[in-house]
Amino acid sequence: MSVQSDAIEDLRASVGLRIADETLLRTLAAGLADVEKLLRETARSDVRAVHEAAAHLFEAGGKRFRPLFTLLAAQFGKGNHEGVVTAATAVELVHLATLYHDDVMDEATMRRGAPSVNSRWGNSIAILTGDFLFAHASRLVSELGTDAARIIAETFAELVTGQMRETAGPADGEDPVAHYLSVIAQKTGSLIATAGRFGGMVSGAEPRHVDALRRFGDIVGTAFQISDDIIDIASPSHESGKTPGTDLREGVRTLPMLYALADPGTDPRLVELLAGPITEDVLVDEALELLRKSSGLDRALGTLSDYARRAREELSALPASVARDACEAVAEYLVARTR
Ligand code: IPE
Ligand code: IPE
Ligand code: MG
Ligand code: MG
Repeated sequence: MSVQSDAIEDLRASVGLRIADETLLRTLAAGLADVEKLLRETARSDVRAVHEAAAHLFEAGGKRFRPLFTLLAAQFGKGNHEGVVTAATAVELVHLATLYHDDVMDEATMRRGAPSVNSRWGNSIAILTGDFLFAHASRLVSELGTDAARIIAETFAELVTGQMRETAGPADGEDPVAHYLSVIAQKTGSLIATAGRFGGMVSGAEPRHVDALRRFGDIVGTAFQISDDIIDIASPSHESGKTPGTDLREGVRTLPMLYALADPGTDPRLVELLAGPITEDVLVDEALELLRKSSGLDRALGTLSDYARRAREELSALPASVARDACEAVAEYLVARTR
């Protein structure tokens, strides 16, 4: 099998996207192969420890959802392949950097089916490597001009604010569901919005189309996090590459938990378990079991479908094309991946 058809198969399998158009698939796969090359170059360092830790996560796998979306968004523009690949790589690097830091915060032991960097080399290495990757992302974005540099800086500030607000929890009297939804828009929606915006911007798409791609990305990104939080409860780790119940262990209340807590009919044992972080494995398993049966999980799936519908509505601002159909498939994939 050629490298090119390997890349297409990888794309089909890893993201599970139903992109029907073969030409578009081939273009996206070729773009992703270039992103991979640039990622590999970026993780290089003469200092072996830096190289090892920097290459660890991208070599472990990952869906490359954000760079894929940047490449897809660039289909609405006129061209500039090199710039688009630079933007797509930078977005994946920012994502990677936040994963290194997030796993420290969440004390996660597994990521992309491999031991997390913090569990393998310790927190200091994980934090510093995240900084290293973010520095390189900034260097790449500087090649795209000052507007792009400002946008990625603003995006990163928003993402970090979301992580901070998640850690702090809702303020007294604040609606916990509204808090959750605005936190995930910040911590996850912001970067996916920028992934779409960059694709449109760098390829020279019309400003109104760039804006539609940003809005679509924002909603899709929020839905992406809802589906991730559902998967943390509903799926075994061999599917997600992460340890299920990480949110429960950290005492982070995600949407299915908040909805379960809001339902007076919820099993009192689950309410008791959700009172704080759960440290014992048997108790995590018990809470997961109860959550899977709870009304909270169903209701969260309903909210996910609402977001996917809203995302699709944004697409009416874009010209009908195979690329727009692929964006539809992105919105559908978010719901499908929780099944
Ligand atoms: C994980 O993102 C972190 C979230 C924002 C939910 P992904 O699910 O895209 O992780 P990878 O890149 O495929 O590992
Ligand atoms: C990750 O959030 C969001 C960012 C890295 C900004 P989570 O903590 O929910 O993601 P996972 O489940 O560890 O991938
Ligand atoms: Mg985490
Ligand atoms: Mg987290």
